[in-house]
Amino acid sequence: MEDNRQLFAQALAPLLSDYLTTEDIYNLIEVPNHEEHGDLAFPTFTLARELRQSPPKIAQDLTEQMDTSNFADVQAMGPFINIKLKRAQTGQGVVHQILEEKSHYGDVDLGHGEKMVIDMSSPNIAKPMSMGHLRSTVIGNAIANIAKKVNYTPVRINHLGDWGTQFGRLIVAYTKWGDEEKVRANPVKELVDLYVRFHEELEEHPELEEEGREAFKRLEDGDKKALKLWQWFRDESLKEFERVYDLLGIEFDSNQGEAFYNDKMQAVIDELEDKHITTIDNGATLVKLDEEDLPPALIKRTDGATLYITRDLSAANYRKDNYDFAKAVYVVGNEQANHFRQMKAVLKRMGRDWSEDIVHVPFGLITLAGETLSTRQGKVVLLEDVLNEAMELAEKQITEKNPDLENKEAVARVVGVGAVIFYDLKTDRMTGFDFDLDQIVQFEGETGPYVQYTYARSMSMLRRYGKDIDPAVDYQLDDDYSWRLIKQLADYQRTVIYAAESYEPSVVAKYAIHLAQAFNRYYANVRILEEDDQLEARVALVKAVTIVLKDALALLGLEAPEEM
Ligand code: ARG
Repeated sequence: MEDNRQLFAQALAPLLSDYLTTEDIYNLIEVPNHEEHGDLAFPTFTLARELRQSPPKIAQDLTEQMDTSNFADVQAMGPFINIKLKRAQTGQGVVHQILEEKSHYGDVDLGHGEKMVIDMSSPNIAKPMSMGHLRSTVIGNAIANIAKKVNYTPVRINHLGDWGTQFGRLIVAYTKWGDEEKVRANPVKELVDLYVRFHEELEEHPELEEEGREAFKRLEDGDKKALKLWQWFRDESLKEFERVYDLLGIEFDSNQGEAFYNDKMQAVIDELEDKHITTIDNGATLVKLDEEDLPPALIKRTDGATLYITRDLSAANYRKDNYDFAKAVYVVGNEQANHFRQMKAVLKRMGRDWSEDIVHVPFGLITLAGETLSTRQGKVVLLEDVLNEAMELAEKQITEKNPDLENKEAVARVVGVGAVIFYDLKTDRMTGFDFDLDQIVQFEGETGPYVQYTYARSMSMLRRYGKDIDPAVDYQLDDDYSWRLIKQLADYQRTVIYAAESYEPSVVAKYAIHLAQAFNRYYANVRILEEDDQLEARVALVKAVTIVLKDALALLGLEAPEEM
């Protein structure tokens, strides 16, 4: 309740000017645990020491002295001052604002239009896009959407894993055992098989290792044949990834992967050496990071090959030069936390003060039916298969619930894919979770389809009403069900800000669930379409809910179907 917290803080401020600023007071205001106690509460604990009085006494005194004219009720309750807001007046303000601002409701300027580059998804070519990449993709996309809402200019970067010694091994495997037709038909699966075979044959033929190294060397030296194969693997893999991105509705601003930095790494290495940041250890070049309590960052191997971090160092520099970002966010699993600490530490040693603007946004692991996923053991779960299965499950449910629905397939896509995205986003990102499709594509419970269904239901109510709604509607509702909805709606901007500052889309997902739940209680308990003088107000509230639900879903990367 942005403005109401402000009102409350302003009422207290003149009494507390020696101790707290209006902003301090604002930040201390909370929502009481029990709804009956009031809408907002101010805890007096922090004042006890300076005022040399007990918190309940302070609460009592302040309550007597403050200007209460803006509130319906003000009560001291133990150490708290609890207030109740004027429901109809507050509700009218909220509803008017939403109907006027529409999808801009909740917008706020934290980013001043500056760029936030978001390194996300970033699968490795010639490998399946794993569930880990699903997380990075959808969390990254939601962070980008939220960034936009708080007025950053998001730049989505897919830092493809398209370089490294494994491509030498793959070239050897393909040259020995590959079949062009098969690869074309089923690129990632075939290439994974070839890679697995390479490792199997390695046991009997250790000389393959050296062949792989040589092939990678040829690649790094720009050998035409090797490059052509690599390019082909990359193109085919990307085509396959694109199908998944299309399903998810995600587009990137850049697909510049690791290979893009091949000719840009030497500059970084030179600078590191010139500034005496590196040491040579057994012929390898590294940066010791003892002071930072980190393992050394290996920049160049004994054989001269560069590494993942070398490419990330030049990528960071390139992004600063190219985008002049205010923030550079890396949405990558928690297992790479040290890698990003090392990267930041090395950049700092290089004198890049903007290394402070780099944020690693980690997340936990997903298991599938209780098992961890790994390509090494050939347990490949293709994201595309998961999405397809989710769409089928969604279609089944829709057919049961609404057999006559037109464009069933399109809705099933939105709902099935949305279910997977929502499930990923609804828990705090650091918490891993088990992925069970049957659970995920449910129309009840805390799921994407539940929120979408609520949206569709509210839209159908608006269709039934059938008339335009005056954004300046006379709003007098003060019952509990409407009031809970108003409080939720009023909390949207705070939610967005918190989600943006903590890089935590789950905050928005939880919000969407709570709003949907509050709406469904309103829907079940209030006769919305009853003909009386508050009919338009009740429908206006429905409309306000549709606007905010749709926007919250959009932030998460879900579409909101009009019917389902
Ligand atoms: N390709 C890497 C992987 O699959 C993720 C890359 C993350 N981005 C980065 N700039 N390092 O593990």
